[in-house]
Amino acid sequence: MRILRTPQELSQTVDACRVHGQSVAMVPTMGALHQGHTSLFDIAHEHADVVVATIFVNPLQFNNATDFDKYPLQFDSDIQMLEQHNVEFLYAPNVETMYGSQFSTSVHVAGITDVLEGSSRPGHFSGVATVVAKLLSAGRPDVAIFGQKDFQQFAVIKRMVADLDMPIELIMAPTVREFDGLAMSSRNVRLSESARTEAAAISQGLDAAQEQFATGIRDTTQLIQTVETAIGSTDTEIDYVKIVDSVSLKEISVAIHGSVIVVAVILDGVRLIDNHILV
Ligand code: PAJ
Repeated sequence: MRILRTPQELSQTVDACRVHGQSVAMVPTMGALHQGHTSLFDIAHEHADVVVATIFVNPLQFNNATDFDKYPLQFDSDIQMLEQHNVEFLYAPNVETMYGSQFSTSVHVAGITDVLEGSSRPGHFSGVATVVAKLLSAGRPDVAIFGQKDFQQFAVIKRMVADLDMPIELIMAPTVREFDGLAMSSRNVRLSESARTEAAAISQGLDAAQEQFATGIRDTTQLIQTVETAIGSTDTEIDYVKIVDSVSLKEISVAIHGSVIVVAVILDGVRLIDNHILV
């Protein structure tokens, strides 16, 4: 695997792939890789000849300095995982390369960034949209892969790519879960043993709501109640449990196939998010 450090190196590398007739997939990450991330590399290989992973812990998207400082860094083991998954290129710029001292641009996607994670984390999605716009415009991949785990993030990036006429296909990869259903996340290691056990209630609640939906229940108040009951039996503080339209992210009162249950909780001081698309 070749490591690229500047946007120029990234652009030239992707151009060279194109000259050789190869299509390119990009998988943006902040490192601390786990199986959720590696599933994206495998899916990327199904969609393109060459995969470029990116690792950049983006200071713009952390609205809390402690969260940024606590973000796990494990570059050596990340490299091993990238190589195990046959990733051809890693783009890993440093903060100065990404944001020079004169950096003044922000990409703001209005509306859908005000709700859910956006209301709890002001500025977060502008940080995400800005860095992803930079990664996509320097790399100009044919395809970019993002996880369903961060459903709102996917919706924001999809809106941005459409609004900015970026000729890039976006793919949403399914959430990879631990043995007990907890969505994999680099934050899970911060949970105490008891909190880690309790965290399984989130996905159990989502599954229970899906089962109810399958029996014909469409009233979102009732479906939300089911999720809250599953989570409420633990020490978990619920930030929100909502059922939203998959594009507008607006709350709905009658669920349909494709509506999304979104959850955010705080457990042991760690904020965890999860979601389920009703089928
Ligand atoms: P990060 O949290 O490192 O996640 C990188 C990608 O992995 C995202 O698309 C995320 O949705 C996906 N992912 C994380 N956990 C997953 C899981 N359990 N199953 C499937 N996919 C999972 O998301 C970011 O980084 C950043 O905001 C980024 C887009 C890189 C911009 O800085």
